[in-house]
Amino acid sequence: MSLTGKRILIGVTGGIAAYKSAELVRRLKERQAEVRVVMTDSAKAFITPLTLQAVSGEPVSDTLLDPAAEAGMGHIELAKWADLIVIAPASANTLAKLTAGLADDLLTTLCLATPAPLAIAPAMNQQMYRHGATQDNLHILAARQVMIWGPAQGAQACGDVGPGRMLEPMELVALVERHFIETKVQAQVTTHIKAQPLAGLKLMLTAGPTREALDPVRFLSNHSSGKMGFALAEAAVALGAEVTLVAGPVALSTPLGVTRIDVESAKQMQAAVMGAIAQQQIFIACAAVADYAPKVVAEHKIKKTAADSLIIELTKNPDIVAEVAALADNPFTVGFAAETQDIEIYARDKLQRKKLDMIAANNVALAGQGFNSDDNALSVFWSNGHVDLPLANKSQLAHHLLTLIAERYYDTH
Ligand code: PMT
Repeated sequence: MSLTGKRILIGVTGGIAAYKSAELVRRLKERQAEVRVVMTDSAKAFITPLTLQAVSGEPVSDTLLDPAAEAGMGHIELAKWADLIVIAPASANTLAKLTAGLADDLLTTLCLATPAPLAIAPAMNQQMYRHGATQDNLHILAARQVMIWGPAQGAQACGDVGPGRMLEPMELVALVERHFIETKVQAQVTTHIKAQPLAGLKLMLTAGPTREALDPVRFLSNHSSGKMGFALAEAAVALGAEVTLVAGPVALSTPLGVTRIDVESAKQMQAAVMGAIAQQQIFIACAAVADYAPKVVAEHKIKKTAADSLIIELTKNPDIVAEVAALADNPFTVGFAAETQDIEIYARDKLQRKKLDMIAANNVALAGQGFNSDDNALSVFWSNGHVDLPLANKSQLAHHLLTLIAERYYDTH
């Protein structure tokens, strides 16, 4: 794997394995990484700064309080420069200093001052490695997300056999590569989650009008075109949701990726919603459901009579959104409110009365928005909050509303 553009700071501490650091630096450079080396004083007893300067092609830093060095790349700059710090070899003494948060030399100061991830390749005598203090330090560092690479087992320079050998340079290079691959994947996942805030959620919504039959050829209905609800369904798919759309009679095609259930009356809409609500995490009621339906549906076409008036008795339809919100295991429930005056008062009253999590109110008395237009404006209310989404086309508005719904959903779940 190429490490082009990756800035890796290698920390070298005192230990016989320090001679392997030159090889590590060379192998990283071969992969086009930018490498800088910081040494502790005791490291210099095992390898010279000149060797590490030669292989890295950069001056080696070793002192904290050197005005000349600070005039070049100062220690804070160096701490900010690194994408990754690898201490190899990491002595027991340096592990203890890192655990305690000491900053008495350049390397430990950098480790405190950097936002970069830190990896350590322990190298020490097997007895020192097994000591409780060293083991405790390693546990604490691991809990702080420090990556512990190695050590390996085997014969040691001092003649002992056991754990404490630094990993070989090529093993460390492979771990560096794996770290950058994992970081990239993690970044992609985070971006994906941000772009798809509804990923993994099942969302059901209602859209359009309902038709309440008077006789075989006539019905009561309203001017809802379904545009707002269909825009929401399309946007919800784009934001990652699995979408079921329960649609009243509209002349719109089904957005890609949406499961659509067509219904006519409020009672049919209620049955379709209640049949699948148990699987949903979010429910949005955008349909303009008729509040009343004729009490009796005439079997044959109602005939005109000599009388000047015709009285039709209506009976209340089920309130679908209130029924969903009242379920014991209810989804996050969002209602709409079509109002012509005192928007906030009526919307908040519906929010409370129907026990909704959120309500999106629109002023359907204004020209160019609301029923059957391409644009809309919404005032969104929840128990302790309110956001106005200004006039925009229904598609943009749907994205804004769903982003808000996702935020509120995750705030409450
Ligand atoms: O379809 P378009 O032409 O794009 O127009 C969009 C719209 C104006 C229809 C839409 O933005 C809208 O306001 N929908 C809700 C209309 C409505 O019925 O509002 P309401 O205030 O009467 O009802 C309040 C809430 O209760 C709504 O969520 C409604 O779906 C729900 N309700 C109402 C009655 C009922 N029997 N069952 C319900 O679930």
